Amino acid sequence: MRSLLLDRIEMLVTWDDGLPVRRDAALLVEDGVVAWSGPAAEAPAADDRLDVAGGCVVPGFVDSHTHLVFGGDRTAEYEARLAGKPYAAGGIRTTVAATRAASTNELRRRARRLAMEALRSGTTTLEIKSGYGLTVEDELRCLQVAAELTPHVTFLGAHVPPDVAVGYIELVTGPMLEAAVGVATGIDAFCEEGAFDVDECREVLRAGAARGLDVHVHANQLQPGGGVQLAAELGALSADHCTHLTDADVAALRESGVVAVLVPAAEFGAGSAYAPARRLLDAGVTVALATDCNPGTSFTTSMPFVIALACRQQELRPMEALRAATLGGAAALGIDAGHLRVGAPADLVVLDAPSPTWFAYRPGVDLVRAVLRGGQVVR
Ligand code: NIG
Ligand code: FE
Repeated sequence: MRSLLLDRIEMLVTWDDGLPVRRDAALLVEDGVVAWSGPAAEAPAADDRLDVAGGCVVPGFVDSHTHLVFGGDRTAEYEARLAGKPYAAGGIRTTVAATRAASTNELRRRARRLAMEALRSGTTTLEIKSGYGLTVEDELRCLQVAAELTPHVTFLGAHVPPDVAVGYIELVTGPMLEAAVGVATGIDAFCEEGAFDVDECREVLRAGAARGLDVHVHANQLQPGGGVQLAAELGALSADHCTHLTDADVAALRESGVVAVLVPAAEFGAGSAYAPARRLLDAGVTVALATDCNPGTSFTTSMPFVIALACRQQELRPMEALRAATLGGAAALGIDAGHLRVGAPADLVVLDAPSPTWFAYRPGVDLVRAVLRGGQVVR
């Protein structure tokens, strides 16, 4: 494969232990991985050159929480919310009905379009959950569509109880899990009033863990509850949302090492309070930022928008938000990604901006000039 030198980089973010951020830098890509980075003046020769022209280069985003596979449309529900009707977990059932009615090709076409949209905005690693099928067959269809788009697939059969809920936990932990194993890499459960209680979630998540799946929990989204404590008890990789936290929840996250995946675009969409990101970081909790892309609360694939919200609404400094959107997401998935150290895949974003502060300073503006995944220019 031809080598590629990115040069005239005003600010390069590699998250190298020694020098996480470099000014006036260059970066060499060879065979799809980062082969070298350093001062522009010392750049080695390469076959091809990409002139960054005073912009910055950052690791590709790791979006560790999305619900990209679904049918239907909930514009009317969102309009009602804009008029003052609060968000409730039950809205998920509208999407379940539409997802069941959609052909697999239709689900595939729509999910692919969203995954491409995410890639164009700089997301080079993506997690996708099921959760809008809720029958063995429909969950499996959603998981298979997700697996065509990413290796990070999460089984969320415990999203909401279906209309006939008797025996549903047995279904999720039995035949549905059986079908999911082999396609999914993780398991998740929505621990919330109107969804599943702590005991039900524990049963589901333990069953998944016993089959080797990574554990994630939709926790403390709409009100305080036991989701975060359950994540800590189970040694989950992540507790996601974390909007309503007590001091004991923050302490449990810190002590257990569970990553808090924050999704401020969902809080924007629901018109709710924002998760206490500053408090979590100051307490020493590992924080990730994700889009939570879904048709109910957060119909966006844009990590730049999420970073802007985290800076403006959650008191994160721009570099803290960028770290949470890259290394934080990788920690939430338990993978080595989200950095540009030598030897890492060249998954990166070239920005028409002198620093990542511009995500917040120029919100809503497309600052992405190029995206590379595995060294290939994909935008
Ligand atoms: O993460 N919390 C549960 N699931 C989604 C919402 C899904 C929906 O409303 O369709 C979320 O916000
Ligand atoms: Fe979610």
